[in-house]
Amino acid sequence: MSDVYRQAWRDSIEDPECFWMDAARAIDWIEPPARAYEPKAGWFAGGTLNTCYNAVDRHVAGGRGDGTALIYDSPVTGSEQAWTYAELQDEVGRVAAMLASLGVTKGDRVVIYMPMIPQTVFAMLACARLGAIHSVVFGGFAAHELAKRIDDATPLLVMTASCGIEGSKVLPYKPLVDEALASAAHAVEGVVVYQREQLAAQLEAPRDHDWMALREATADAPVPPCATLAASDPLYILYTSGTTGTPKGVVRENGGHAVNLAWTMGAIYDIGPGDVFWAASDVGWVVGHSYIVYAPLLVGATTVLFEGKPVGTPDPGTFWRVIKRHNVSTFFTAPTAIRAIRKEDPEARYLKEIGTGNLKVMFLAGERADPQTIAWAEEHTGLPVIDHWWQTELGAPAIATCFGLGDTRRKAGSAGFPVPGYQFAILSEEGQPLPAGQSGAVAMRTPLAPCAFRSLWNNPAGYEKNFTGFPGYYETGDAGHFDEDGFLHIMGRTDDIINVAGHRLSTGQMEQLVAGVDGVAECAVIGADDALKGQIPVAFVVARAGALELDTMDKRVIARVREELGAVAALKTAFVVRQLPKTRSGKILRNVLRKIMAGEDFPVPPTIEDPTAIATIREKVASAKVA
Ligand code: COA
Ligand code: AMP
Repeated sequence: MSDVYRQAWRDSIEDPECFWMDAARAIDWIEPPARAYEPKAGWFAGGTLNTCYNAVDRHVAGGRGDGTALIYDSPVTGSEQAWTYAELQDEVGRVAAMLASLGVTKGDRVVIYMPMIPQTVFAMLACARLGAIHSVVFGGFAAHELAKRIDDATPLLVMTASCGIEGSKVLPYKPLVDEALASAAHAVEGVVVYQREQLAAQLEAPRDHDWMALREATADAPVPPCATLAASDPLYILYTSGTTGTPKGVVRENGGHAVNLAWTMGAIYDIGPGDVFWAASDVGWVVGHSYIVYAPLLVGATTVLFEGKPVGTPDPGTFWRVIKRHNVSTFFTAPTAIRAIRKEDPEARYLKEIGTGNLKVMFLAGERADPQTIAWAEEHTGLPVIDHWWQTELGAPAIATCFGLGDTRRKAGSAGFPVPGYQFAILSEEGQPLPAGQSGAVAMRTPLAPCAFRSLWNNPAGYEKNFTGFPGYYETGDAGHFDEDGFLHIMGRTDDIINVAGHRLSTGQMEQLVAGVDGVAECAVIGADDALKGQIPVAFVVARAGALELDTMDKRVIARVREELGAVAALKTAFVVRQLPKTRSGKILRNVLRKIMAGEDFPVPPTIEDPTAIATIREKVASAKVA
């Protein structure tokens, strides 16, 4: 059955023009593109379209207005609601009219800082309808991070809600928005606030607008038409962690995104019109953009928006309950979520009692899926559990088992095979392709597939940097190898990015924050292995001579990262040490710190300046573990 996949992959590489023009037929174009790809003009040049039209309106126009588009399931508020495509069209139309009344037009940026509620989906689609460029910021980021994104994207408006709900905690969002706007250099023209019944936010006239009041005030305004956009016009900017404190604004273009995503729904996830698809992620991440909002709607499927956690809302059976209740046929989550369920329900009692209904396959991504997690999930669900790999830069999977093409081959520890459109190479430091079995930098031949980024917002040099290390290739930043059967194994990063509970974070950025704590002379932040979250950050700090309040330094380090970067950073451990392990030339040996945290025995590196540093740090870590 993998022959269909092999043929598709070969076609996509040998004749990308024909392959992608064929895939482009799944999209309703205003002006069809003449060609799939031209190096300068990019994907589907000459083509014009509207992504909102393709995700919503055309299904209504095609007679599928009564089909369910969106199911909101929120165990944290005890509510559940569904929208047909016709109802979704109405809601999106209303929000588009609200935005238009505030002057939003094609090309304007709108920052969306909102929780997992349907209004967030309406807001994104309304921007797409108007041709405005949305930039969704994950709710777990602090005000300072939001301010950086506001200054970079220079939005006309910010859209927010009064609060998010994390398990049993109600987290106010509006004060963070106020704080971010107060510190940002850029001034927005307005803030639209959706008041949730759990918490009322304070609004300040004339800047702030109450969402529902604005909706009422514009109830008679005509629904703005779907703007005509060039294939290369940006649909959204999504910021992701780079190796510095400055986030990278990945720009997603309308044409390539729509074509590529629609293709993946059939070929990878085996989902078509009327099927129910659920990605248990957050709209603040790329998985949420692609697979909660756009891709399922582009193919006329039903998407589930889940506001809850895998455990504790109310119990580790919540995923299985949602899958069964809504007749989900393909499910996508992060390995960390399965590890959380397994930890609380190792015998899978909830799973056995509730069942998985009509689920046929489960996909995992966001971090490496460890073989034990896959084995547990496969054993207890009796279903194929497929690891697949991708990045914010790409917008869609690039390594996977193309289940929808009939391929079911998988190997625990591997993310699968190159997805059609992507040609991988494992490169040595000198840029030479390495044979199967040898580990190196994971790179992809250019041009990348249609959904992948073709620019970074305001940052052409940052974009180019991804392609200069190995000419002719995009450098993914990951390390890995092909095995003798052609499976690709992703083993980790080659830079300072870590993956905490499926969230991409930069230890370099955390180091910049830690270095600013009073009395810190120098520091290192590393990613330590964690049984639940995959990795967690751990800080090592050296105090300046004569520094005061040494006994609170660890707490101040933790607090600063939480306040500046956000709770999502999950930095809970900081060690104040006498010195860091360094080479004679002053380079911090972060690998030594990682090994100490893992409790590994290792030979003292010959380059280390003072070997006694290792023993003292080891003691500190050991005594913290005992405590
Ligand atoms: N808004 C505000 N705060 C948020 C937030 C949001 N949208 N998302 C997370 N946070 C906060 C959490 O409340 C937590 O704060 P705390 O330190 O005060 O407890 C912190 O950020 C860390 O959150 P998280 O990483 O989610 O850890 P957790 O302990 O709350 O939950 C898991 C652990 C494994 C259950 C959870 O991480 C999970 O479901 N992960 C799946 C991740 C995922 O889907 N990734 C997308 C890639 S596909
Ligand atoms: P993000 O851009 O947030 O999606 O994070 C992308 C990074 O997450 C990748 O570069 C990898 O380091 C990691 N990642 C995502 N999926 C996987 C996977 N299936 N296996 C291993 N690493 C993964």
